[in-house]
Amino acid sequence: MNNKVRALISSRVSLAPMAGITDYVLRSLVREYSSTCLLTTEMISSEALTQVKDTVITKRDENHTPISYQLSGHKPQMIANCAKYLEKYADMIDINMGCPVNKVVKGTDGCALMRNSDLAAEIVKTTKAVISIPLSVKFRLGYTYEELNFVEFGQKMQEAGADFITIHGRTRAQMYGGKADWKRIAELKRNVDIPVFANGDVVSPETAAQCLEDSCADGVAIGRGALGDASLLYRVEKYINEGVKLPAPTLEEKIEILKKHILREMELRGELVGIKFCRKFIPYYLSGFPGASKLRGELVLMEDFKKICKTLDNICVNQ
Ligand SMILES: Cc1cc2nc3c(=O)[nH]c(=O)nc-3n(C[C@H](O)[C@H](O)[C@H](O)COP(=O)(O)O)c2cc1C
Repeated sequence: MNNKVRALISSRVSLAPMAGITDYVLRSLVREYSSTCLLTTEMISSEALTQVKDTVITKRDENHTPISYQLSGHKPQMIANCAKYLEKYADMIDINMGCPVNKVVKGTDGCALMRNSDLAAEIVKTTKAVISIPLSVKFRLGYTYEELNFVEFGQKMQEAGADFITIHGRTRAQMYGGKADWKRIAELKRNVDIPVFANGDVVSPETAAQCLEDSCADGVAIGRGALGDASLLYRVEKYINEGVKLPAPTLEEKIEILKKHILREMELRGELVGIKFCRKFIPYYLSGFPGASKLRGELVLMEDFKKICKTLDNICVNQ
């Protein structure tokens, strides 16, 4: 295994990229718990980055290392140029070959690249030629169940120069439905020499351990499980590497993190934009107690941080 990659993935846990979710603030919150997991940015459109540099999307702190910056697109030279530019921020560049969203695949980006493996390989080759940091790819099992090409696709990406793979155990057709097939990932693992992280439906230390057993992967990438629980990646690291089971955060702890999350988004984006941006996170932080749904309904309409905090503080008093 490439030594640089080995160091970046040594914790065996990564934050899966999520557009509109794994932004600078969420990455920072995850890092407050885990100093070693591999962070990943949201996907950064190579077309957009070519037009405008250094928006909020590229922001990082010193302690964010190890961090991977994910690029999307389908034009090899454009992606390569963007990767070169991002080298000043990134420890690794990841290419998105798994996004299932209609508007992305229509433009031959994301998972559409699994149907055009020559182009995908050219992207990897062209990018690899201009950067000196590791390059990874993230893809799915295939476009549909009739096109399960993940083994050949992974081999081709490895031949083209990819140093690391994250694979989501679903097809594009499944979007996010059904269950991720961790056992199939073992077929890829057996057929490539570069490290593989398994992804999909890892939501706890126990599911991470099961995923590793089924997939024989080198580690796990965690996406939605980190919503409303920035400590999950740390808890997974402790469990799979040391066998130590740490408790999930209590409601009180979650409320404190939610307040911090909103405050930091306000600092990053401005008060009102920050508050509105955080509305999507509220259901993940506040669930499983009487009256949660009514409270969530009220909170997502609020535009004043002090009022939000007062409402949140009342939850603890009333439980
Ligand atoms: C809201 C959302 C945004 C996502 N954005 C991206 C993205 O930008 N790039 C990417 O490769 N995958 C993206 N994904 C897919 C995740 O990285 C991950 O593969 C998927 O959610 C399965 O893992 P999980 O079950 O741990 O969430 C996104 C998923 C969600 C739910």
